[in-house]
Amino acid sequence: MVFSETGPWSPLSEEQVNRYRRDGFLLLPGVFSEDEVKVLVAEAEILYSTDGPSRTFEADGRTVRAVHGFHRDNVVFHSLSRDPRTLGTARRIVGDDVYIHQSKINAKRALDGAPWPWHQDFVFWQREDGMVEPKAVNIALFLDEATEFNGPLLLVPGSHRDGVIPPMRPAPKKGRETWESHLASDLEYTVGRSELARCSEERGIVSATGGKGTVLIFDSCIVHGSGANMSPEDRRMLLFTYNSVRNVPTTVTNRPDFLASRDTAPLTLEEEKG
Ligand code: SIN
Ligand code: MN
Repeated sequence: MVFSETGPWSPLSEEQVNRYRRDGFLLLPGVFSEDEVKVLVAEAEILYSTDGPSRTFEADGRTVRAVHGFHRDNVVFHSLSRDPRTLGTARRIVGDDVYIHQSKINAKRALDGAPWPWHQDFVFWQREDGMVEPKAVNIALFLDEATEFNGPLLLVPGSHRDGVIPPMRPAPKKGRETWESHLASDLEYTVGRSELARCSEERGIVSATGGKGTVLIFDSCIVHGSGANMSPEDRRMLLFTYNSVRNVPTTVTNRPDFLASRDTAPLTLEEEKG
């Protein structure tokens, strides 16, 4: 299946780009159709049930939390990552050619899906991978409806404009690979209580709720997190992180390539091929 059906979608307007720059995020309902999402969910479930190092689990050791790096060898996700609605949008926001630094599908399983503490993504990419500037953008696609009950992503509007906030760090966990604490519910770099209070004082916190097929674009420095899934339904969300080819990390990371891609060649849209 090639994701070329654009439906009611059209490239971002000037007004939307300006809103994104001001708020650090943009929520776009109905970008992908129900049928397209059905295909993606089926593929996601295959990845979740396939053993491999890029699959991570909740603290119970058996509930899948996320899978990473699938845009490289899964035909459906490879195609999705070169769709005008994902790649085209990322290029518009970044203003340059881009590659995918990271891909993931967070499962947030019914009842068992644990929180993501407040954090800024760029801190991980800067400290762990040597990314120089916060030029990357996240394109998230809702594979399930995100509701007030199933742990939707929470964002602090405008917080990206503060740049990097010195992170809090938990005590290291014994017997765990360092990179595992970049994906667990007791996250490595978090935004502390007083910093959260300060940055949310003016404009508060918003929750990114919306139907399946919604796209959420968010800045790599925006303060965000999410709560536990208290509902009987999963809250699966796919994320592609596109980074400018002129902002490729300069140091060698120790992290596996499913977390920090080594393939930094500029991506081309399916329709630009040949
Ligand atoms: C979530 O899936 O709720 C968190 C995603 C993220 O922090 O990038
Ligand atoms: Mn994040």
